[in-house]
Amino acid sequence: ASTLGAAAAQSGRYYGAAIAQGHLGESAYVNTWNTEFTSVTPENEMKWDTVEPSRNQFNFGPADQIVSRARSRGMSVRGHTFVWYQQIPGWVSGLNGNDLRAAISNHINQVAGHWKGQIHSWDVVNEAFEENGTRRQWFVQQRLGDGYIEEAFRTARAADPNAKLCYNDYNTDGVNAKSTGIYNMVRDFKSRGVPIDCVGFQSHLGSGANLSSYQANLQRFADLGVDVQITELDVGGSGSGQAATYRAVTQACLAVTRCTGITVWGVTDKYSWRSSATPLLFDGNYNKKQAYTAVLDAL
Ligand code: XIL
Repeated sequence: ASTLGAAAAQSGRYYGAAIAQGHLGESAYVNTWNTEFTSVTPENEMKWDTVEPSRNQFNFGPADQIVSRARSRGMSVRGHTFVWYQQIPGWVSGLNGNDLRAAISNHINQVAGHWKGQIHSWDVVNEAFEENGTRRQWFVQQRLGDGYIEEAFRTARAADPNAKLCYNDYNTDGVNAKSTGIYNMVRDFKSRGVPIDCVGFQSHLGSGANLSSYQANLQRFADLGVDVQITELDVGGSGSGQAATYRAVTQACLAVTRCTGITVWGVTDKYSWRSSATPLLFDGNYNKKQAYTAVLDAL
């Protein structure tokens, strides 16, 4: 196969990119997206501050542009994200107790409902764990306790029953304290029938990332009965070192039957969120990098 999407499809997987609505006017950006990728994650356009800037006032336009372009080309869409401690509008942080609970539930119902049937996987909750494997102590955790996560998953299941529901986090690139905290939550959810279908591994990696237990970590989650996805991959460094890390991540996913797809967190180094780095598969002129070739070969 000669594109990332076609190569991934040979084993039934998708290959996606984060896409920003603000770049859709740039033809090289759109052409690269269309040619290479079979899935998309809106980079910011579905986040709470964009989609519900004031209580119960919804702004679906920017994400709609991405979703409709994707669907017209047969791509799948990852929804990102309902409940996260960042990019959250100010009005939410003033709420408490049942009012906060109701605002979260309404947010999920309205946003999931708007794209019902159109989203392959939703990142229902993002980045809710600390590095030591305990719950992140942000205001929703402090005010509602541990139960907010399972409540979000139950609400999302009712709102869009056909979407796969994922928990998503970073620094989970091996068997470590954080991934083990998440693993224990997922095991508990599966044992009690809380609806969770997948775990996302962001995989924002440094150049010298130690990936010695990356595959084993994916596999232990898969063995709990959930799919795993690489959701926000990007890799520091350049040249052969960067390419080797991309290759290793690709090989790990392919070695795990339930690893269903990979998403890179952007198309071109020109627009990476890691502003001082060149962590993506295409350079600033949309030329394929060594990392691109490594991924294509490994798929
Ligand atoms: C980042 C976006 O790429 C930036 O444009 C934005 O300014 C901040 O958020 N983890 C996530 C993503 O789950 O939503 C973040 O995306 C990167 C880290």
